[in-house]
Amino acid sequence: MSDVAISTRGLRKTYRTRRGRKVVAVQGLDLEVPAGGVHGFLGPNGSGKTTSIRMLLGLVRADAGTMTVFGRPVPAQLPDVVGRIGAIVESPKFFPAFTGEKNLELLAEAIGAPRARVGEVLEQTSLGERGRDRFRSYSLGMKQRLAIAATLLKEPDLLIFDEPTNGLDPAGIREIRETMRGLGEQGKTVLVSSHILAEVEQVADTVSIIGHGRLLASGTVAEVIGGGTAPTVKVAVGDHEAATRILVAAGLTVRADGKYLLVEGAPDPADVTRRLAHQELYVSELAPVRADLESVFLELTEGEGL
Ligand SMILES: Nc1ncnc2c1ncn2[C@@H]1O[C@H](COP(=O)(O)OP(=O)(O)O)[C@@H](O)[C@H]1O
Ligand SMILES: [Mg+2]
Repeated sequence: MSDVAISTRGLRKTYRTRRGRKVVAVQGLDLEVPAGGVHGFLGPNGSGKTTSIRMLLGLVRADAGTMTVFGRPVPAQLPDVVGRIGAIVESPKFFPAFTGEKNLELLAEAIGAPRARVGEVLEQTSLGERGRDRFRSYSLGMKQRLAIAATLLKEPDLLIFDEPTNGLDPAGIREIRETMRGLGEQGKTVLVSSHILAEVEQVADTVSIIGHGRLLASGTVAEVIGGGTAPTVKVAVGDHEAATRILVAAGLTVRADGKYLLVEGAPDPADVTRRLAHQELYVSELAPVRADLESVFLELTEGEGL
C-alpha cells in the first residue's frame, strides 16, 4: 500500500491552437500528493492546473511523462482506480426543477450507489434539509456543495476539485472550505486547485505551487513558507533615518513601510531594541512579520509573466 495518492514525473502537454501556434501548458511537472488530507494545487491562471488534472483523469492525453494514482500507472490502469476517485472538473449538470435530493438519487441509481448514501452525502456537505428544495433555488455555494455531494456518492478515497470556489462569495467559499476540511479529517485525500492562495491556505495540509506548468515549491504550508522569505521584524520608532543607519551598520537590511521599518536578516528583537535604545531611539512597537504563503506565492510566481 502506497502512502502517495498522486504522483507525476516529467508530465508534459502542448496544445496546438487552431492557427497552428503551440502552447506549452504543462512542461515537466513533478507532482506528489500524499494520501490523506487536503493538498492545495496552486498557481496563477494559465499555469496548467486544469490541464494537469485532466491528464490525471484521462480526459486529455499527456505528450510525455508518467503518472500514478494510488500506485497504479495511469491512464493505463485508470479503470482499476477510477472507482476510488471523485472529481469536479467543470460544473456538473443538475436538473434545475428537481430537488437536490432527487438529483442525487438519479445519480446514485446511474452509478449503482445505494440510495441511503444520498442522505449521508447531503449531511456531509451540510445541505441536510435543503436537499428537499429545488436545485434552481440554491445559492452558488449550495450548488457547488451539491456537486461535491455527488462526487461522494460512491465513497471515493481521492477527491479532485478544480477551482471549486470560483465565482463564490465569501460565505460560499467558507462553506466549501469547511466541507474540504471535514473530508481531509476523515482521511480522504483532497486535491484542490486554486489561483487564489488565501482560499486554500487555511485548509491545506500540504501544497504544490506551479507556474508555467512547472513545480515551483511543495511541502507542508510551514515548509513552503519557511523556504521563502527571511525572518523579518516590524519596528515602530520615531526617527527612521537614524534608526536605519544604526541597524544597517549592524548588518541588517532595513526597508520603510509606512510608519514602520521592516528589519530583515534574521534579527534578534532584543538586539534591535538594545541597539536603538543605546542611541536613545525608543521602540514603541515591535512585532515579528509572519511570512505568509501569499507572499511566498507572489515571490515564486513573480516574473512568470502570467
Ligand atoms: N484546449 C486548449 N487549447 C489550447 N490551449 C489551451 C487549451 N486548454 C488550455 N490551454 C492553454 O494552456 C495553458 C494552461 O491552461 P490551464 O491548464 O487551463 O491552466 P489553469 O487551469 O492553471 O488556469 C494556458 O496557456 C491555456 O491558454
Ligand atoms: Mg483551470
